[in-house]
Amino acid sequence: MTQTNAIILARAVDAKPVAGDFRMQASELVAPGEGELMVRVIYLSLDPYVGSALRGRHMTRQPQPGDVIPGKALGQVVESNSAQFFVGDYVTGEMGWRELALVSAGQMRKVDPGIAPLSTQIGVAGMPGLTAYASMHHLAEVKAGDQVLVSSAAGPVGGTVGQIARIMGAANVVGIAGSDQKCSLVTDAYGFDDCINYKDPDWKDQIAAAFPKGINVYHDNVGGELLDTALANLADYGRVVLCGLASQYHADERPAGPNPGVFIVKRAKVMGLVVYDFAEDQPMVSQKIGQWIANGDMAYLEDRVQGLDQAPILFEKLMRGENVGKAIVAVAPESL
Ligand SMILES: NC(=O)c1ccc[n+]([C@@H]2O[C@H](COP(=O)([O-])OP(=O)(O)OC[C@H]3O[C@@H](n4cnc5c(N)ncnc54)[C@H](OP(=O)(O)O)[C@@H]3O)[C@@H](O)[C@H]2O)c1
Repeated sequence: MTQTNAIILARAVDAKPVAGDFRMQASELVAPGEGELMVRVIYLSLDPYVGSALRGRHMTRQPQPGDVIPGKALGQVVESNSAQFFVGDYVTGEMGWRELALVSAGQMRKVDPGIAPLSTQIGVAGMPGLTAYASMHHLAEVKAGDQVLVSSAAGPVGGTVGQIARIMGAANVVGIAGSDQKCSLVTDAYGFDDCINYKDPDWKDQIAAAFPKGINVYHDNVGGELLDTALANLADYGRVVLCGLASQYHADERPAGPNPGVFIVKRAKVMGLVVYDFAEDQPMVSQKIGQWIANGDMAYLEDRVQGLDQAPILFEKLMRGENVGKAIVAVAPESL
């Protein structure tokens, strides 16, 4: 038996999750059975979908009080009972909010630590990066000269969407974010042409002014009024990728929604994105994004805390929209 710590759901959640909804708990793990691995967690990814899942508003299972909080992580194999993995291999997959995880080898993906910084392989070069790549490459099919708008642009998905659009030849990439500080990062760190703070009183006019010829591609992470306003400024044959609904995850009532008539008048193409559909592309996208990071073509920011016990505090910050960059928990050193 091996002693370890995990973070569990302390009580049922019926509002925006806060740190007090979670509790650290010690437990014992048995040795890996046939086809299983023991993994020491190095980086734990905190993602908005976990907040929706806690309230039963996500396609994944709703955790119950006493359950370990779900979460994607990157770790290192410390015991292997699978021919596919060796002690010392780096792996990613669903491990939960734990320091040590007993996992099925079939659910893990081996990670090459040489292709991108390790922490980015659960961040901009991991699932959020795959989401961004799928949006711009597979769905929106960005072309040279496109005018592109991205919401939640300071986050790991939005920030990467805009940078990939630029790499693919977009002429004008504009972000939307919730503070002037976030907007400065979007333009200065991620290199967007402009960024609009949707809390400014005239934000709708600013969007119209940024796209005098209309928006060719809109990547939406938010829904509600932002989506409605972006649609009102679409160019003919605009392409819209619906990726997230940040304005609705914790709202009691559904906010004012878009008018489907716009899709007809603008002959627009609207696409829903589920990143799991593109899982096969993850190694290729991680490698590509790793190269862009190494060449200086892609920047990334991390909102990092040290130690599993800090996960609930950073998660509360993510739920309040106060994270700046990818929310990541450094649980243990990269190498021993
Ligand atoms: N479809 C898929 O397969 C898929 C895959 C991955 C992620 N996603 C979605 O993509 C979105 C971005 O993910 P991420 O990991 O990069 O997270 P993120 O952008 O860091 O998400 C949190 C951000 O959402 C914004 N937000 C929260 N409430 C809002 C509101 N009421 N109105 C407007 N913005 C609000 C906040 O930024 P501001 O301060 O700028 O408002 C907050 O910092 C999320 O909605 C996520 O669920 C979808």
